[in-house]
Amino acid sequence: MQLLDAINKRRSIRQFTGQPITDEQLQTILNAAMMAPTGRNIQEWEFLVIKDKETLLKIIEVHPYTQMLTEAACAIIVCGNMQKDDAESFWIGDCGAASQNILLTATDLGLGSCWCGVQNSKERTDGIRKLFNLPSHIMPFNVIAIGRPAETRETPQRFDSEKVHYEKW
Ligand SMILES: Cc1cc2nc3c(=O)[nH]c(=O)nc-3n(C[C@H](O)[C@H](O)[C@H](O)COP(=O)(O)O)c2cc1C
Repeated sequence: MQLLDAINKRRSIRQFTGQPITDEQLQTILNAAMMAPTGRNIQEWEFLVIKDKETLLKIIEVHPYTQMLTEAACAIIVCGNMQKDDAESFWIGDCGAASQNILLTATDLGLGSCWCGVQNSKERTDGIRKLFNLPSHIMPFNVIAIGRPAETRETPQRFDSEKVHYEKW
């Protein structure tokens, strides 16, 4: 698949077949995640991969908008390591770039994915932190559900010329 096709075809997928993905697919996705840019090239991301069904269901208990995990093949919890980003100035952008690589690579492999925000909610951050007993320097950024899609979604038209400003505001 060409990059622009993946960008246009990627949608948040919230219905999965329940079938697993292969280890090779997962490795391809994780490799793509770590090819993203980072501020000062600190690569402070860490990735918690969850395939265990019971654990996936426990995530839903602490994050109410992750219901799609019931049939997902796995979840990747993208985290930032504050020991490498001690001013906490880069991790949100860096984890976001890695997350987008994950979504686009999943699309390229014919898989579905959904970014579920964690960092934007103290309650969800605390819930994920407690569930996985994360060290204090590890900040959960999001939960990305991945699996074989059981829904297809059309590509919306989003380009809006009013949001583009040439040369001056
Ligand atoms: C920061 C962020 C947080 C999100 N959190 C959730 C979430 O908790 N649950 C969910 O189902 N979708 C979540 N989404 C997915 C958005 O709802 C989705 O990207 C948006 O509706 C646009 O649809 P599309 O991804 O299909 O283009 C999140 C997306 C982002 C970027």
